[in-house]
Amino acid sequence: MPELGVNIDHVATVREARKTYEPDPVWAAVLAELGGADCITLHLREDRRHIQDRDLEVLKQTVQGKLNLELACNQAVLEIACRLAPQQATLVPEKREEVTTEGGLDVVGNYDAIAAAAKQLASAGIAVSLFLDPDLQQIEAAGDLRVAAVELHTGSYALATGTAQQDELLKLIRAGRRIRERGMALHAGHGLNYRNVQAVAAIGDMHELNIGHSIVARALMVGMTQAVREMKALI
Ligand code: PXP
Repeated sequence: MPELGVNIDHVATVREARKTYEPDPVWAAVLAELGGADCITLHLREDRRHIQDRDLEVLKQTVQGKLNLELACNQAVLEIACRLAPQQATLVPEKREEVTTEGGLDVVGNYDAIAAAAKQLASAGIAVSLFLDPDLQQIEAAGDLRVAAVELHTGSYALATGTAQQDELLKLIRAGRRIRERGMALHAGHGLNYRNVQAVAAIGDMHELNIGHSIVARALMVGMTQAVREMKALI
């Protein structure tokens, strides 16, 4: 069964909307682990739009399972990662103007920079994963870097419908096969939700799925009734 990595970034997004202390992603991580999360994933972005340095520091001390830090090839963030040494780091591309991570890394075009970042992380004892589109050239380059894992970007699959979605699924299956042949662990994520996750979870040798937005969105809805009841009782 694939492991579930719960991405808690959007708990911090709600907190940062008010620049206050709640909701706390650390509390959310505890609840996610109680619910069975195998891994807690967070993205320390250069612009600190959601997760803050303090979140990562506290999570490093409190998460009981695996901690997976997403980060760009940015020297300041790489140094924080190496100092705190989460079990896993996933290198992702980052653009300031994007709403979320829009595509996979271009390992072919940025081979030396990604190789240097992967080496820096690995020498701190961190398992390195690269976030890639299901593109075989990119996967071969990741294989040459001998990283521990590749996380396939499932965004195109999630956005597609009908036969186009089947085509996207086939691309993920083929890419997944090659990732395993090159000796890397297979991860996937982005845009996965309660309706589209099962076909991706069923891909052979799928090791880890990282899911954020849809779990945080569902948590808001299933918790709303209780939250209103408690406020009514106080009033
Ligand atoms: N994997 C990676 C590498 C990501 O950047 C993200 C988004 O932060 C996710 C998975 C989770 O995507 P979503 O929030 O759409 O579930």
